[in-house]
Amino acid sequence: MTDKSDSAANSMWGGRFAAGPDAIMEAINASIGFDQRLYAQDIRGSRAHAAMLAATGIISTSDEKAIGEGLLTVLSEIEGGDFPFSTALEDIHMNVESRLKELIGEPAGRLHTARSRNDQVATDFRLWVRDQCDAAIEGLGALIRAALSQAERGADWVMPGFTHLQTAQPVTWGHHMMAYVEMFGRDLSRFQDARRRMNESPLGAAALAGTSFPIDRHATAAALGFDAPMANSLDAVSDRDFALEFLSASVICAVHLSRLAEELVIWSSAQFRFVTLSDRFSTGSSIMPQKKNPDAAELIRAKIGRILGAAVALFVVMKGLPLAYSKDMQEDKEQVFDAADNLMLALAAMTGMLSDLTANRERLEAAAGAGFSTATDLADWLVRAAGLPFRDAHHVTGALVAMAEAQGVDLPELTLDQMQSVHASITPDVYEVLGVHDSVASRQSYGGTAPDQVRAQIARWKEKLKEKPA
Ligand code: ARG
Repeated sequence: MTDKSDSAANSMWGGRFAAGPDAIMEAINASIGFDQRLYAQDIRGSRAHAAMLAATGIISTSDEKAIGEGLLTVLSEIEGGDFPFSTALEDIHMNVESRLKELIGEPAGRLHTARSRNDQVATDFRLWVRDQCDAAIEGLGALIRAALSQAERGADWVMPGFTHLQTAQPVTWGHHMMAYVEMFGRDLSRFQDARRRMNESPLGAAALAGTSFPIDRHATAAALGFDAPMANSLDAVSDRDFALEFLSASVICAVHLSRLAEELVIWSSAQFRFVTLSDRFSTGSSIMPQKKNPDAAELIRAKIGRILGAAVALFVVMKGLPLAYSKDMQEDKEQVFDAADNLMLALAAMTGMLSDLTANRERLEAAAGAGFSTATDLADWLVRAAGLPFRDAHHVTGALVAMAEAQGVDLPELTLDQMQSVHASITPDVYEVLGVHDSVASRQSYGGTAPDQVRAQIARWKEKLKEKPA
């Protein structure tokens, strides 16, 4: 980064300044170190603004042509990596405009007519966050597809379902995978919602009050792919709720990613062996040769920390700010950049890990029957076949579980005599509900774990993924 200041006042706004800023002032004030990431959005916004200024007769078409071409040169200079960003010029907006002036001279000075950096930065940042919503929507689509194909492969594979991480009732692998499809599907719709709401243009709000020039905000909004111009200039330059919504959706998505990551860490352990992670998504240990560590899952589990941190930081920055623009809002970008980068990385890593992993069918099935997981099926049978009130059935089943536990056997291994010693009305039919496959097949209620139900949900999701978002 070069320093173009000659200790004189800033050439962009220094009219009333006799002296340049203190070095510390410059250090706290400058955002170019991070907002250079907005260069493409800034140049796109400026080109739309210049075209509108010419179309409305506010600047000449020859000036507009010079500005438009000059901005494209700036764009290619930045993309070529040889752009001399200057801290003295504070931010991306002034860096671009200053370079434009070097390139085309006088017409560059007309670009900022009927505009302020306040509406400019709000526009640039909206465009950037809108792109990130699209990236999140795409990343979630890929992740949902990966979970769906896992679900399809093991739609009827049985595994233990847990509550309190204690064996509860058998479920299917497909059902468990589809639970995440639902969660990630809601995440996806949250990014779609946020995108829809943020898709209005702040450009032309100028500093805060609008402008006396006869601008056409509808034209710039349309040129930038916005649905409409924002209807209140004070609101346009001063709210960052679009960034807060993006962060909020990211936080919830990161929570879901973290929960799945935690399951992968548990499931890949030697004690569980429910899944085997691919070599591509695991690491070794430098001292223990036998180790295969789920580092990607652990890092995804941790990402919620910084993403939630970013959301908290921006919420705190925004609370209590009077209308309209305050420089506090410059603190919005680094948080959103970091959260977006890490969310996209976590989505990609989870997609890769999930696509590559092998669920160990035999191991899942063996674990599914352990821990008296069909005790509820036995109680339900006593209600259905023997006419017991559920509370009594629960009690009888509890006694049978205690008996099996004392003998070190599973429920289906108790003899009929033993069962009848606890309750005389038990018949041989009972054995039909004690197997884990019987158990899951019986859970036909809508959204239940029966393979038919799971397959119906998989089919519904496949259709849904074909639809275009509204
Ligand atoms: N770098 C500033 C930001 O990110 C741009 C807007 C500056 N506006 C101003 N009036 N100083 O918020």
